[in-house]
Amino acid sequence: MKIRKAVIPVAGLGTRFLPASKAIPKEMLTIVDRPTIQYIVEEVVASGIDQVILITSEGKSAIENHFDYNFHLDRALTEKKKTRLAEEMRHISNLIDVVSVRQKKPLGLGHAIWMARNVVGNEPFLVLLGDDLVLSEKPCCKQMIDLFNEVQESIVAVQQVPMEQTYQYGIVEGKNIKERVIKIDRMVEKPAPGTTMSDMAIIGRYILQPDIFDILEKTTPGHGGEIQLTDALLALSNKRGMYAYEFDGTRFDAGDKIGYLKAIIAFALRHPDICEDFSDYLKEMAGQL
Ligand code: G1P
Repeated sequence: MKIRKAVIPVAGLGTRFLPASKAIPKEMLTIVDRPTIQYIVEEVVASGIDQVILITSEGKSAIENHFDYNFHLDRALTEKKKTRLAEEMRHISNLIDVVSVRQKKPLGLGHAIWMARNVVGNEPFLVLLGDDLVLSEKPCCKQMIDLFNEVQESIVAVQQVPMEQTYQYGIVEGKNIKERVIKIDRMVEKPAPGTTMSDMAIIGRYILQPDIFDILEKTTPGHGGEIQLTDALLALSNKRGMYAYEFDGTRFDAGDKIGYLKAIIAFALRHPDICEDFSDYLKEMAGQL
């Protein structure tokens, strides 16, 4: 079955970015010249998806506005003969069909995904977490869709992390069945140090069979007292099998201060308008260290 829909939870408070995220959603923080959420939506579009389902909360309407058509801005830019900018703004509003669903209580990532059940319906779908930006030749989601077309079961994107950081992630254990593909045996959300031998961490990209919704409905609070997606994934994996995919690309944790700054540098060095000047500046700075 074709993957047509992508769920993007954006309801979180963004406490790691306070005070910047006090009055604007952290998903609207800028990397070079666009908000982080736009990179995520562009990955979805480049992967051939038809619809984005945002799981939002109070104070997140700037995200919806960003992907909407802004009549006043369009008129002002056109009057000022800023045609290229006006076109670019229209392009953003035409990127993809965007639907939003409110998560009324912050009950966890698993609960946020469950909120999408009526819009997703009975078909496999993508989930992307807004903190994880991936730079790659072929979009990470497209790589996963290609694998899904072969295996027809749920897939989580994974990346090797230093053993001492495993407690920050969902961790998968399993057997390599071919290059980059692991058949999952066990999964645990943020394992206490020393409780797993695996260093394969889940990164925020998932393809899920719709059975996940019934499982999430029955999932009780786990790590941190929240309904954890990873707990429901383990139940889904036990029910019908699941794969972990070591994607090809570089991942940035844009939800963390250092990760965010690294992302800005990496994306700036690829931006056609500024890459040369910025690269010269970095070299100059490096010489001063
Ligand atoms: C979430 C998931 C976790 C995953 C991580 C990737 O955690 O619960 O399994 O490894 O994203 O970024 P969070 O970072 O939201 O605490």
